[in-house]
Amino acid sequence: MHDLSITRILVEPVLSRARRDFSVWLNDDDHIMSGDEIVAKSFESDALIICHSEMLTKNVVSQFSDRLKIVANYSVGVDHCSLEALKERGIVVTNTPDVLSDATAEIAILLLLGACRRAYEGDQMLRTGTWRHWAPSAMNGIQLTKKKLGIVGMGRVGQTVARRARGFDMEIHYTNRRQLPPELERGAIFHPTPKALFGEVDMISLNCPATPETDNLINTDSIGWMKPGVVLVNTARGRLVDESALIDALNSGHIAAAGLDVFQVEPGGNPAFAKFPNLLMLPHLGSSTHETRKAMGDRALDNLDAYFAGQEPRDRVV
Ligand code: DGY
Repeated sequence: MHDLSITRILVEPVLSRARRDFSVWLNDDDHIMSGDEIVAKSFESDALIICHSEMLTKNVVSQFSDRLKIVANYSVGVDHCSLEALKERGIVVTNTPDVLSDATAEIAILLLLGACRRAYEGDQMLRTGTWRHWAPSAMNGIQLTKKKLGIVGMGRVGQTVARRARGFDMEIHYTNRRQLPPELERGAIFHPTPKALFGEVDMISLNCPATPETDNLINTDSIGWMKPGVVLVNTARGRLVDESALIDALNSGHIAAAGLDVFQVEPGGNPAFAKFPNLLMLPHLGSSTHETRKAMGDRALDNLDAYFAGQEPRDRVV
């Protein structure tokens, strides 16, 4: 049996399957493991399953034991891994695409609806007993129906957000590295740059990976390209948004409402966000459904099974 170290507590059916097929070491107090701890584990492991909370920097990877052959990410995003360093060391890396698109798109729509329809404020009124009366002029929000939604990153999650948003008769616009073929576009309107997209749409959903090119994609300049009163949601990565610029835009009203599932600093988020009732926040819940968390684990284990059977893992990244 191969030795597998798992850096976070995964859901029970996944752990049972892992224990059936591997000799498993589990980080059973579920703390976020430091680079040094992961390096130490690499000397006892043929394979690792890690989450996006574990940082495999260049420095960490350079200290890995030659014994470690494969890192199976329990995430679709791989921005926490130095892929270059892992490739150089000949360590195979996999991720878990497809299986979390539905769950993440649900959270994008939840944030969009919640931000537009003032869900946080309404909930607070009930909890604090400040709901005085129904009033025609109070608590009016922004209607989603028939608005223009701009999707940044039309990969699997972006396309799923588009499908859900069509249920609200939204007009879908997008920007992406490449224009999609018509059967995937399904009538969505392509814009070659974020600048062209942002000037056109009423609401923006960030669904692209975090890369050096997308770091702080939402900044003072790019917010200036957006229509006044725009709504922004981010279910991708916190690194995409310059949080100070977002705070300025919420203060000025240029961004009318926002929904964030991801933050520059996780866990914790940004304490300066707390004062904005028009900002709906969640603690990185994109993939957190029972169904998806099991599917992600199965996908990671499928990748390990393929690798140790001498086959190409289906989700090989490097
Ligand atoms: C991912 O898979 O990249 C998610 O952000 C983790 O839930």
